[in-house]
Amino acid sequence: MVTIDFTLNGKRVTVDVNDNETLLFTLREKLSIKSVKEGCSIGECGTCTVLIDDETHYSCLTLSSKVTGRDVKTVEYLGNIIELHPLQEAFISCGAVQCGYCTPGMLLSAYSLLLKNKDPQDEEIKRAISGNLCRCTGYIQIIEAIRYAAGILKQNC
Ligand code: FES
Ligand code: FES
Repeated sequence: MVTIDFTLNGKRVTVDVNDNETLLFTLREKLSIKSVKEGCSIGECGTCTVLIDDETHYSCLTLSSKVTGRDVKTVEYLGNIIELHPLQEAFISCGAVQCGYCTPGMLLSAYSLLLKNKDPQDEEIKRAISGNLCRCTGYIQIIEAIRYAAGILKQNC
């Protein structure tokens, strides 16, 4: 057991973790972050995606002990039911959410992309979300939503 501290969605947290504990387990079971989902557990589906220092990572493959001192973000960072992030609004208005299982990870991959690239082309969007599987939408609406949100965010700059 080791005590780690890191920034989670803008707040400093301290938690005891086992040496082999995954960040997915720590977030869900110890810090009540249920938006981070367990799908495949082997780094293939992306439902467990989080941002570490604004880069996407599979939390099912990340040891919690490795995030000491780092900045971890989950979809709760982006917005909430009262104040949605433009990406969240775009996913809703473009019909990019169906069952919603992939959505938190998809939003974080899109958010990370738009931090680095304010005007991504479709190929760049596809590459950015290539680690996030969606079984419902066929991806077209998701790509449209990310493109649409990029336009809104550019206007707001
Ligand atoms: S649960 Fe982590 S990639 Fe599928
Ligand atoms: S909306 Fe169902 S898996 Fe993507």
